[in-house]
Amino acid sequence: MSLAVNQIYHGDARTLLPQIAPDSIACSIWSPPYHLGKAYEQDVTYTEWVDLLQEVIRLHYALLKPGGFLVVNIADILCFPDPSMPRIQAANVRRQRCDVTREDVLAARASYPHYNRYQLAELLGCSEQTIDRRLNGNNIRGGKYAPQTRVQLVSQIIEQAATAANLYLYDRRIWVKDPAWENSQWHSLSYRAIDEFEYLFFFWKPGITVVDRSKLTSEEWAAWGSRAVWTIRSVRANDDHEAKFPLELPRRVIKLLTFPGDTVLDCFMGSGTTAVAALQQGRQYIGIELLPHYVELARQSCAAEMRRAAMVQEMGGTHQAEIDAVQLSLLDKH
Ligand SMILES: C[S@@+](CC[C@H](N)C(=O)[O-])C[C@H]1O[C@@H](n2cnc3c(N)ncnc32)[C@H](O)[C@@H]1O
Repeated sequence: MSLAVNQIYHGDARTLLPQIAPDSIACSIWSPPYHLGKAYEQDVTYTEWVDLLQEVIRLHYALLKPGGFLVVNIADILCFPDPSMPRIQAANVRRQRCDVTREDVLAARASYPHYNRYQLAELLGCSEQTIDRRLNGNNIRGGKYAPQTRVQLVSQIIEQAATAANLYLYDRRIWVKDPAWENSQWHSLSYRAIDEFEYLFFFWKPGITVVDRSKLTSEEWAAWGSRAVWTIRSVRANDDHEAKFPLELPRRVIKLLTFPGDTVLDCFMGSGTTAVAALQQGRQYIGIELLPHYVELARQSCAAEMRRAAMVQEMGGTHQAEIDAVQLSLLDKH
């Protein structure tokens, strides 16, 4: 028996995707783990992660409708540890290296055995990080003993997997999100840019694709339908899920690539964002998620959206009109 529509399934995408009816999905949109060490990908090696992406993409050919799309939202790995990379000789001209030696710290500790590292730092006129580094040879931020990091592009992995699966790269867009300044290790002493964009890769399964330009208004075409760069605020709140994409992202993709009644798939469903966007656009959905607490969260998100839609209808407004009004106010100004 095939997986039913309008359900969130608990399990591994690789096991459940083969259970979806062949040629049934108009559009699959998902954002996989990014190999950034999030809680849900802690034990997965880089090779296993690449294998997961390749296998999930391979499994898409059978389930997509001919003429349908797979849309992958992903980002490059900006701090990819590479022990083979020569160490960057970064000379800091502004902030001279502290000249307190390990011997100085050991001498101070011998004279003041009860001092903690903050007191030793005050005594020697340096930071407590320097005390820690001199005593333990380590650095809270990784320091000189950590492997060098470089950028690892992901587009090649995704594109090669899709090409091998007979899916064609139809389009690509950039999602510009809020700049993430948190990683001070990354930009304190370097020429590197901060993390502020992700990709959307659109793959197409050969077949008849109905192109109906009237499904977006001319304002929508001008604001985002024809635009390669989408500026959408990221989801700041991560108390229930640590890597949600904004609702506006699947909403645009669903509106652009599908018709009412079509089925939309997200096999890395997380908190249920794609399912909610599908419901709001009058589409059906199938969700797959590995972690039971996220399955529960996604089911709750869908139930809440259905309650909200029912209330709006009861109050006399049509559901779609209400959503469109909110979405219009969100449209990019550029
Ligand atoms: C980047 S998050 C997706 C977040 C989602 N777009 C949202 O807005 O909430 C990736 C999700 O994939 C799930 N996941 C990881 N490996 C998986 C697998 N093999 N099969 C299904 N889901 C998986 C994780 O638990 C996580 O919730």
